[in-house]
Amino acid sequence: MIQGFRFQQATSKIFYSLSLFQVLFTLQAFGQEVIPTKDKNQIKFAFGSCNKFTPEQQSEIFDKIALQNPDSFAWLGDAAYIDIRKYIHYWEPDPSEESIKRKFDNVVQDQHYKKLLQTNAKIIGVWDDHDYNMNDGGKDFEGKYIIQRLYLDFLNEPSDSPRRSNQQGIYVSYYLGEEKRVKVILLGELFIFYLQRFQIFQFSLLTNYQTDVRFNRDHRRDPNPTDMLGEAQWKWLEQELSDKSVLLYLVASGTQVIPDDRFFQEQWYNPSRQRLLQLIRDKKAPVVLLSGDIHQAELMEMPCSDQYLGYSLREITSSGLSFTNTEMTSIFPLFKYIVQLGVPPTFSSHQIDRYLERNYGMVNIEWNNTDIMSSTVQLHIYGNITLAPVLAQEFKLYDFHPNPEKIKEIIDCPIYNLTPTQRKAQNFLVLLQKYDPAAIIVALLGGLLFMNLFKFMKALFSACCRGSQNEINKKIKKD
Ligand SMILES: *[C@@H]1O[C@H](CO)[C@@H](O)[C@H](O)[C@H]1NC(C)=O
Ligand SMILES: *[C@@H]1O[C@H](CO)[C@@H](O)[C@H](O)[C@H]1NC(C)=O
Repeated sequence: MIQGFRFQQATSKIFYSLSLFQVLFTLQAFGQEVIPTKDKNQIKFAFGSCNKFTPEQQSEIFDKIALQNPDSFAWLGDAAYIDIRKYIHYWEPDPSEESIKRKFDNVVQDQHYKKLLQTNAKIIGVWDDHDYNMNDGGKDFEGKYIIQRLYLDFLNEPSDSPRRSNQQGIYVSYYLGEEKRVKVILLGELFIFYLQRFQIFQFSLLTNYQTDVRFNRDHRRDPNPTDMLGEAQWKWLEQELSDKSVLLYLVASGTQVIPDDRFFQEQWYNPSRQRLLQLIRDKKAPVVLLSGDIHQAELMEMPCSDQYLGYSLREITSSGLSFTNTEMTSIFPLFKYIVQLGVPPTFSSHQIDRYLERNYGMVNIEWNNTDIMSSTVQLHIYGNITLAPVLAQEFKLYDFHPNPEKIKEIIDCPIYNLTPTQRKAQNFLVLLQKYDPAAIIVALLGGLLFMNLFKFMKALFSACCRGSQNEINKKIKKD
């Protein structure tokens, strides 16, 4: 059961019992769940978002995820579309608990999803807006305590789980891999260093943190939205990122974290992004970000982040398990062009780092038992056809660890000299050259029309039927 450790013959027994003791103690003391690996030489962490946009959308992609036989699968939002679409892009919360349950049950009983469940992959997750029951919803959504209970029911969260009693959100963290149990709080940093150094045994420490970007989020339409997480969650994250024994943090968020120049999509508010970056820097934490939400897949790198963090910050987005932007093209022709207009190449390039069809993501780690820091970290996106990745980047563990020599006091980063708006404009000009200009212009005009139509319909709705957030809240309470 204690996998991945290298024992020296003479000392193995001592360490074995020490480890066992630590396991028990750690589990008792911290209650943080460990997700065991199926193969002691690697970790296979799968994730995805945006499932079942409409009842007609099928989720065959889960057959493929099941074939990957991952240790775990993480929902990064929109596991089901709970809120009700009234018109193109206008949604209202579903006021009926019965109906919410039914929608979550539809997912759990889906024949394809069941195949994944049968592999014994541990299913974990956090919500984004649609499974929070409020499109673009935030902290002012009063139905949040109800959906908290129902969402955690969907995940089969135990009745005594702290996630249920937490009044500040459903954020959570896990250890990936059994070795991780020895979260060597008992031993202290120096001792770990000694053990690693002399390879008496190795620590394969990896953690997945799932942040809740809904429960305490300032609403997008607030006059000055700044916060994504809320103070309690910030404190928690700070504490979690302080653990020096962790070799890699997978920090997950429904909403994309590093982009700041997107039109249509939600993104982290600037002050929160800054705060997160500073936290990672202060804690010298080795982090890879995971996200969902945008109905296409992307592998991203934050320009010049190495000057700030000592390594390059990366984010892997997988979105569109059963519905993607290209499929919107059947609703509105050329939609996929418009979407690319809204996604400048600051963080990923159009051609190489994006995938527009149905997809899921995986972070695969293969341990190198002679040199743990040389272990391989793969960031992969897979489509629904084969088991080979459609987007792939490969790193070593040390690529995510701060190199103090890279850190600069003054950061020289030409791309950030451009404002987000300037970058959007530049992207438009580049795409104009790349694609057929006529197609782009038609797409753009169509898009404007589409957006205006949508705004118009929304205005109409709020004038006649929607009312304010307060009224929606009242309505939910009544129901
Ligand atoms: C794969 O996804 C595409 C859309 O991206 C869809 O049209 C097709 O039916 C899917 N195929 C399978 C086998 O799931
Ligand atoms: C492990 O890392 C060492 C040092 O970087 C390298 O020489 C060796 O080939 C690696 N082993 C494997 C199995 O990748």
